[in-house]
Amino acid sequence: MTSPGLSSRVTCVVGLQWGDEAKGKVVDLLSQEHDVVVRFNGGANAGHTVVWNGHTFKFSLLPTGLLHPHVVGVIGNGVVVSPPQLLKEIEALQQVGIEVRGRLLVSDRAHVVFPYHQEEDRLREQGTTQPIGTTGRGIGPCYQDKVGRNYAIRVGELLDEAHLERRLREILPHKSRWLATFSSRAECGSANPSRADTPQMGSSGELSSDKAVRELASTYAAYGRKLQPWIGDTVRFLHQAYQQGKRLLFETAQGCLLDVDHGTYPFVTSSNSSTTGLWSGSGFPARYLERVVGVVKAYTTRVGAGPFPTELDNHLGDYIRRRGKEYGTVTGRPRRCGWFDAVAVRYTAQISAADELAVMLLDVLSGLDELAICVAYEVNGELFAEFPSDPEILLRCRPVYERLPGWKQELGQVQRWADLPKEARHYLDRLSELVGLPIGCVSVGPAREQTIFLT
Ligand code: IMP
Repeated sequence: MTSPGLSSRVTCVVGLQWGDEAKGKVVDLLSQEHDVVVRFNGGANAGHTVVWNGHTFKFSLLPTGLLHPHVVGVIGNGVVVSPPQLLKEIEALQQVGIEVRGRLLVSDRAHVVFPYHQEEDRLREQGTTQPIGTTGRGIGPCYQDKVGRNYAIRVGELLDEAHLERRLREILPHKSRWLATFSSRAECGSANPSRADTPQMGSSGELSSDKAVRELASTYAAYGRKLQPWIGDTVRFLHQAYQQGKRLLFETAQGCLLDVDHGTYPFVTSSNSSTTGLWSGSGFPARYLERVVGVVKAYTTRVGAGPFPTELDNHLGDYIRRRGKEYGTVTGRPRRCGWFDAVAVRYTAQISAADELAVMLLDVLSGLDELAICVAYEVNGELFAEFPSDPEILLRCRPVYERLPGWKQELGQVQRWADLPKEARHYLDRLSELVGLPIGCVSVGPAREQTIFLT
């Protein structure tokens, strides 16, 4: 990664695996060199834990760059916003003296996640024999309503209570019917027990009563009044900022393999979580992008269901999980762990137009006798070097590994490339060759100083 001063004016940080690649740390490092940090996809399904001056923040919606006092954060039109969650995060910053007023802009065109979306999410997962393992935050149902148009509400609509009540009066009877049908189905064929992290709602009949409509409208209009200072036209703001010579940093949530179009469908999230979502999710043309930093872990993890060819369902996977503290930030679920998959990352680097790799959590791999990188897939005796578009084929893929020697030394204190064990350098060189991208930085611990810059 380039040192400050040599940075580009428009940069995107994107995860090249199944999310949780520690993008937050890369965004934090790059925020020092940028004026505006932008979220453009996903919602409160994302989770970044950031430690700042002894305080631990759990960001789901706010751009992490806001911890830098010079940065303006933008939540673009492509994000789905839970107002109580957003207010909670804003309050957490204000409580420790970080002023957000004048430093945050939320798109009036972003869509609102309501409690019934979370209920829908829960029931859909319960009522299917093939649950996706969602975060339960109502993300999929909210995006469904957005695309379906009739039942969606945008952030700008929270600012007019009478209008909001009219809209909810139209929407809630439909939601109520849907929830009633699905509750009985889910109860009959429950494939997935109810999760503790999903709030429960009253019965679906109550949902559309006059009282319930008025209460929901009043609660969400109150959120709207609180958020009002931050709501506006983010597209215009981004174009003006660019014309004024400001430097923009786009922060992708989740990872490319969870992208609704290009990921391991249907085991994906409901937004474009690769660079492809930037243009539509922010209104800022991707052709102005000067640099794309592709973030990877030195191994692979995935939360939720779906194919994962290099998964290690054994003591090695447990070793990585324990050392890497691989538990979900949002749901606390243990993450599935496995070897680095160069076939998958070559593919995601291509669709995201990545210029360089940021390799995270290398320190986790210390202590292993031998490491492996997946260099191809084998299906029915045939070798593939390309990532298959057919999920059924991906499920049958067996990884073909290149084995490399491991190293014993702990890496947390290493600050220069030359001080890494030669086996670790060899591992990184192979990873870079196999993906076909240079490595810009290597992370050997959560702190900013635990980063080795290569370019
Ligand atoms: P949803 O985004 O909650 O609908 O979940 C869909 C899939 O994406 C599930 O497998 C989740 O575990 C996964 N997912 C969603 N957000 C994240 C994230 O921030 N990191 C990793 N996985 C995620």
